[in-house]
Amino acid sequence: MSKGPFACRVTPSRSGQPQDHGDFSHQAEITMVYPLTATEKLYQIQIRDPEARHNFSFKPGQFVMLEVPGIGEAPFSISSAPSRHGDIELCIRAAGTMTTFLSRLERGVMVGISGPFGTSFPVEDMLGDDILLLAGGLGVVPLRAPIMSVLENRSRYGRVDIMYGARCPSELLFGYQHAMWRQFDIDLQVIVDKGEEGWPGPVGLITDLLRRRLEEGDRHRLATQTNAIVCGPPVMFKFVCAMLLEAGLPMEKIFVSLERRMHCGRGKCCRCNIGSTYTCLDGPVFNYWSVLNLQEAI
Ligand SMILES: Cc1cc2nc3c(=O)[nH]c(=O)nc-3n(C[C@H](O)[C@H](O)[C@H](O)COP(=O)(O)OP(=O)(O)OC[C@H]3O[C@@H](n4cnc5c(N)ncnc54)[C@H](O)[C@@H]3O)c2cc1C
Ligand code: FES
Repeated sequence: MSKGPFACRVTPSRSGQPQDHGDFSHQAEITMVYPLTATEKLYQIQIRDPEARHNFSFKPGQFVMLEVPGIGEAPFSISSAPSRHGDIELCIRAAGTMTTFLSRLERGVMVGISGPFGTSFPVEDMLGDDILLLAGGLGVVPLRAPIMSVLENRSRYGRVDIMYGARCPSELLFGYQHAMWRQFDIDLQVIVDKGEEGWPGPVGLITDLLRRRLEEGDRHRLATQTNAIVCGPPVMFKFVCAMLLEAGLPMEKIFVSLERRMHCGRGKCCRCNIGSTYTCLDGPVFNYWSVLNLQEAI
């Protein structure tokens, strides 16, 4: 199993938990902070009240609003297994005011957690099928929850591939878990745009990995029994989704997470709209058919 300091435990999933969409803030404690790269840290956050913690239920791909009292509130994808309930993990890049402040905090600090919000990757509908999980850069953060879900039910899926691209080896996230993911009969391939001394893996773009996988794949299986989950920068969506369509995957089986700028995360401020679509309510997860109907989504 993983050697990470607070890597997700892989436990059997519990079904039938009530879905908590409460628009109220839970008091929560940062129980661990673990630096992953120069700019990203993994935060383990525990909802204080044991009952609320147990009842906190989310689906892979959903996000929470994290409030740092006196500083602000922002959306972050839940990056841990849904079976962990209100013991969540968030991987956060120090980007601006609140996230930089957060990066200086240590364990023991109290914060607020609201949610979960938004749509999710329908991993339960994918049971029995093959899954291609594709992440570029920080996109591996929202991808980690569906990965953990699939691992917990590994025998109920067909072939599972993870393709992960980063700019350089020092920006790779969750490297300490890659060996554990592979132990679950998952074909994990990692590629970097630019190698560094000692990097043993391939150098190139995630589309290089995908091209190889699609060329060797059974075309009928790709068209009928394969789903794709894609998280990353918009430029990656464009090329990756075009290749998946070309290989025969139906648009309804390609899922992307569109992380537009959000303010309230609750459908109240209109900051996240694409036309009449609220990405905080109708997204962030959309199938590709819906994305093509959203002007300027990608
Ligand atoms: C659904 C959703 C899920 C997210 N999940 C994660 C996550 O798991 N990990 C993570 O590190 N970040 C995530 N983000 C982005 C995160 O919310 C922002 O980085 C955060 O709001 C920045 O707050 P700040 O006060 O530190 O930055 P600010 O001071 O508000 O801004 C600093 C800089 O960051 C840019 N910025 C702010 N928000 C965003 C954004 N949403 N997208 C792109 N650039 C932005 C600003 O333009 C500015 O240049 C997510 C965003 C959304 C909408
Ligand atoms: S973020 Fe406020 S409406 Fe979507």
